[in-house]
Amino acid sequence: MKGLILSGGKGTRMRPLTYTSAKQLIPVANKPVLVYGIEAIVAAGISEIAIIVSPETGGEIRQAIGDGSRYGAKVTYIEQDAPRGLAHAVLTAEPFLGKSPFVMYLGDNLLQHGITPLVEEYRSIDCNSEILLTKVPNPSQFGVAELNGAGKVMKLTEKPAEPKSDLALVGVYMFDERIFEAAKAIKPSRRGELEITDAIQWLLDNGYTVHPHIVKGWWKDTGKIEDMLEANRTVLDTFDRDVRGTITGSQIEGKVIIEEGAEITDSVVRGPTIIGRGAKMNHAYVGPYTSIGNGCALEFCEIENSIVLENSTIAHVTGRIEASLIGKNVKIGRTHRKPAAYRFMVGDNSEVGIT
Ligand code: DAU
Repeated sequence: MKGLILSGGKGTRMRPLTYTSAKQLIPVANKPVLVYGIEAIVAAGISEIAIIVSPETGGEIRQAIGDGSRYGAKVTYIEQDAPRGLAHAVLTAEPFLGKSPFVMYLGDNLLQHGITPLVEEYRSIDCNSEILLTKVPNPSQFGVAELNGAGKVMKLTEKPAEPKSDLALVGVYMFDERIFEAAKAIKPSRRGELEITDAIQWLLDNGYTVHPHIVKGWWKDTGKIEDMLEANRTVLDTFDRDVRGTITGSQIEGKVIIEEGAEITDSVVRGPTIIGRGAKMNHAYVGPYTSIGNGCALEFCEIENSIVLENSTIAHVTGRIEASLIGKNVKIGRTHRKPAAYRFMVGDNSEVGIT
């Protein structure tokens, strides 16, 4: 069995971070979302993995993941010329997948219990495809499945305005080679994409078997900032305390991970929280559900429920920073220039909130 991770696309909902970086590389608890997917596939006993990348972000993803050996995988990269849909991505990978059954994993999805039960079930039953479903409060933002009384899949619709059920398609799918036939038969949707949802509907319409698997445990699609922060909270909640680094005159409370080389001085860290390698805190407060990336520096500031990417600096900010996603190498601080005023250099589509 092989693995296919979809890590192309434009990441429009995560701009401005995705102007310079792939959305699948944004970290949750200091680990890129994409790595959770690779680890889940390897844990299910699959090591031959292809990652679909876009021409814009392919270089960065290759650099971050390499040949996959550090995750116990053999990773191949396949470039998709443009985000023409999930079924188009599958067709792009046909030469790599050949006749092998495969698991397809959307590179921005996170599943609490991984995918091992799904892969094992698919291996043990005779079906052409297996899909993962879970109940959601907002089904119109996802692919939606309708099952009959016997639990059989009857109909799949991509982001319906008026959903007929609250069962969303989770971004992990099992397929055999019939999916290529399906992807070649369907037409682009209203949003101009070859939808995997339509390809699976084609399998159903043409007498192939699609087995539903209801997901237990949490699942997150990290497409938007609120989802990212929620995924961050959920993952941090699963960690145990592990405090390294140099701690001086500070209070470290609860489930806190402080990595090697971090220096915490005259500060308060309240978990669940992770402070990355080589990060520095001086007279700072990092509160619950915050991930501070490697090499960040926090001085005379307070932050909670946020994600800060590597090598950013926050200094002398009076109000508490909350529910924020701060990119790499960002500098937030106080200046003494006159006239006293807010001075910003902020990328396109950024959001700054001031009270
Ligand atoms: O997250 C689950 C949902 O994922 C499902 O419920 C939907 O049925 C499914 O269509 C998909 O919807 P999204 O709108 O969330 O998909 P998105 O465009 O975010 O793409 C998912 C991943 O696939 C993301 O990592 C980018 C990558 N991708 C996307 C497209 C359109 C590609 O690699 N190539 C593409 O052409």
